[in-house]
Amino acid sequence: MTHQEPPTHTQQGKRRLIFPHPMATAGTGEPDRELQLLGELDADTVMMMGDNPALPAMPAAPTLLDFFRLRFRGITYHHLLHSAFLAREAGQSETVIIACLLHDIANGGLVRVDHGYWGAQMIAPYVSAEVAWAVEQHQALRFFPDDTVGYAYPEAYLRFFGPDYVPPPYIRQAHAAARAHRWYMTARMITVYDVYSFGTDAPVGPEAFEDLVGRHFRQPAEGLGFDGSPVAHMWRSMIWPNNFL
Ligand SMILES: [Fe+2]
Ligand SMILES: [Fe+2]
Repeated sequence: MTHQEPPTHTQQGKRRLIFPHPMATAGTGEPDRELQLLGELDADTVMMMGDNPALPAMPAAPTLLDFFRLRFRGITYHHLLHSAFLAREAGQSETVIIACLLHDIANGGLVRVDHGYWGAQMIAPYVSAEVAWAVEQHQALRFFPDDTVGYAYPEAYLRFFGPDYVPPPYIRQAHAAARAHRWYMTARMITVYDVYSFGTDAPVGPEAFEDLVGRHFRQPAEGLGFDGSPVAHMWRSMIWPNNFL
């Protein structure tokens, strides 16, 4: 707990405006409210910066499991725990189990599109190269069956994407390249233990993986978001998702 920051609740007494993220509303038909919100600024109204009391307070030096407990949204929280639980029940290696625990981490509190690539970057400084690679590659592999391990195209994807959906060329190319890679099976195992029925019924909580995380995730002493790593901003963005800039 070495992290020292000035208090972030310096906007007390003010109305605090939250700007939607460009990606959250682009193309949705939601009106672009940026000009309108700028017009609402006055002596008592500011753009939100710092802690949002609508979100649980984070510790000064947050750990991976703090993000699970305090930031990840319901479906992803349960989905990651469930996948890692299934991998462990099946007797998979700790490399596979931690990869399953982290594979959709981007969806938890940051961004959904291209989530495998975002997730791999978020964790790369803290896990083995094999784990980060596997998380990245599951983005493509989940679309392609592998009979040797009994992985079929997910039934759920027929509903999610429609029966005629074809992954774009960059995904097909990534799949072909991953097949030839020495860590292919690690990434493939993520797809095998991926749980395609999303619910809120994980059989265990984050504490079930505390020891595993301790062995395979190099938690920075300053806390995720404050270690000066090339990805610290990603973790800070989840701590303060409503910061204006
Ligand atoms: Fe995924
Ligand atoms: Fe998943």
